[in-house]
Amino acid sequence: MPWDLVTLNSDTAQGYRNEGEVGIALHESGLSRGDVFITTKYSGFDGLDIPTAIRNSIDNIGTPYVDLYLIHNPRLAVPDIPTAWAEMEKVVDDGLAKSIGVSNFGVQDLEILLASAKIKPAANQILLHPYVYQQQAPIVKYAAEHGIIIEAYSALQPLTKEPSGPLDAPLNEIATRLGATTDQVLLAWTRAKGAVIVTTSSKKTRLEGYQDAGDIELSKEDIAVIDAAGALGEKRITARIGLRKFGVGVLVGVMVLGLCSYFGVRIDKSLWDLLLCSIVR
Ligand SMILES: NC(=O)c1ccc[n+]([C@@H]2O[C@H](COP(=O)([O-])OP(=O)(O)OC[C@H]3O[C@@H](n4cnc5c(N)ncnc54)[C@H](OP(=O)(O)O)[C@@H]3O)[C@@H](O)[C@H]2O)c1
Repeated sequence: MPWDLVTLNSDTAQGYRNEGEVGIALHESGLSRGDVFITTKYSGFDGLDIPTAIRNSIDNIGTPYVDLYLIHNPRLAVPDIPTAWAEMEKVVDDGLAKSIGVSNFGVQDLEILLASAKIKPAANQILLHPYVYQQQAPIVKYAAEHGIIIEAYSALQPLTKEPSGPLDAPLNEIATRLGATTDQVLLAWTRAKGAVIVTTSSKKTRLEGYQDAGDIELSKEDIAVIDAAGALGEKRITARIGLRKFGVGVLVGVMVLGLCSYFGVRIDKSLWDLLLCSIVR
C-alpha cells in the first residue's frame, strides 16, 4: 500500500549508544541515504558539547548529515536554552543536519527557545498516548499553534506497560468493529491528535500492521471514548505514583527514626520538617 505518511525512520540518539549499529544497518540494507530519514539527538553524554557531539554522531552513523537533530531533553540545554539553541542553529549552518528540533520540551521551554530563535524547531518529540494526554495536551496545542511538529514516542505504552487499564475495553471494542488490532487503533488515535508517530518493532508482521494503521480513520465518537478512558487511567496512574512516593517516604521516615533512636540521636525541629517533607512529597 502506498502510504505517504510512512517514512523509513531511524530514530537514534547519542544516549542510546546505537548510532554505530544504525550506520551498519543502513550500509548493509543497500538503501540509499535519501531513502531513510535519520534522526539523532544530543543527549549530553561524555561531557561533550553540541558541536563536538553532532560531529561524533555523523561519524558514528557514517553519514555526511542527519535529517533531524534534537536536543534530547530541556535539562541538556546548557548553560541555557537560548545558548544551546544557537549551537543547534550552527549545526544547520554547517550542513550537518537538515533540520533541528527538541524533545521532551514543555510550553515554557519552547517559549524561552522561540524568544531568541533564528530557526524554529521543526519538531518536538514527546511521550504521547491516551494515559498522558491530559498533561500533554497544552504542549500539543502550543506546538500546533507555532507550526512545530509533534513526534509521539511510546504511543503503545497503554498496551506494553499499562495493560489491563480503562483503555482495554474501548480499544478491544473499536479494534473488533474495524477489523484492526489494538496497537493499530492506538496509532490511529495518535495520528488523529496530529502527531507523527515514532515507533518500532522487532517483528515484520507488526511493522506491516503499523503501516496498515494509516488506513484507519477513527470517528469523533471513538476518539472521545478513548480520550475519556485515557483520562480515567491517567488519574489512576497519578494516584498510584503518589501513593508509591508516599509509601517510600514513610519507609524512609521510619528507618531514620529507628536509626536515630538506636544511636540515641535527638530529633530537632528541622529534622522533623525534613522527614515530614519527604513523606508528603
Ligand atoms: N525522545 C525520547 O526521550 C524518547 C523516549 C523513548 C523512546 N523514544 C523513541 O521512540 C521509539 C519508540 O519507543 P517505544 O519503544 O517506547 O515505543 P512504542 O511505540 O510504545 O512501543 C514499541 C514496542 O512495543 C512493542 N509492541 C508493539 N505492539 C505490541 C503489542 N500489540 N503488544 C505488546 N507489545 C507490542 C514492540 O515490541 P516488539 O519488538 O515485540 O514488536 C516495540 O518494542 C524508540 O525506539 C526511540 O527511538 C524517544
